[in-house]
Amino acid sequence: MIGQPAIEIRRLVESDLEGVLKIAENTNEAPRWPRQTFVEMLSGEFLSRRIALVAAGASAPDALGFTVASLIPPEAELENIAVAPGVQRQGIGRRLLAELVLNLRLAGITTLHLEVRASNSAAIGLYNSFGFNETGRRPRYYSNPVEDAALMALRLV
Ligand SMILES: CC(C)(COP(=O)(O)OP(=O)(O)OC[C@H]1O[C@@H](n2cnc3c(N)ncnc32)[C@H](O)[C@@H]1OP(=O)(O)O)[C@@H](O)C(=O)NCCC(=O)NCCS
Repeated sequence: MIGQPAIEIRRLVESDLEGVLKIAENTNEAPRWPRQTFVEMLSGEFLSRRIALVAAGASAPDALGFTVASLIPPEAELENIAVAPGVQRQGIGRRLLAELVLNLRLAGITTLHLEVRASNSAAIGLYNSFGFNETGRRPRYYSNPVEDAALMALRLV
């Protein structure tokens, strides 16, 4: 788009770590993973069972968003997705999820599962727009504040 810097979605690499950590620290609704988990994201063992993607400016390498899914073939679990607060609602979350779904399909995954705070209307809006269905609830699953988890799933075949 004219006037807008190009954004690319690509696999997470080591130089993305600090940017991804910053996004995670600044987004309350995303899972609060300890720093060690993000460091482990770069290990071969972690990545052999996961797909981890970042959104970044084509000419500015700082991460603008990221997503991680764990593979439990033939199914997968969306473990995390977050977009930096300053660039939300510009289509980056949609692009991250679309690229993730494409990669999962290529890996032969049939269903993508996730859980989300029942009040997280931004994330639920994103998931609904992809065709996720609510498959159940986990009462009082989250703390600070206590809240139900909505369980959602998307068939990929
Ligand atoms: C959820 C999140 C990743 C969405 O990323 P984003 O880049 O802001 O979303 P997009 O601009 O791609 O929006 C795609 C669609 O999602 C929905 N959506 C996004 N933000 C929304 C909001 N604040 N309110 C309602 N719907 C919203 C809309 O359907 C939107 O499509 P539209 O803009 O055409 O109406 C982002 O809000 C975020 O990082 N939130 C904090 C972390 C989080 O909640 N992660 C999910 C944990 S389960």
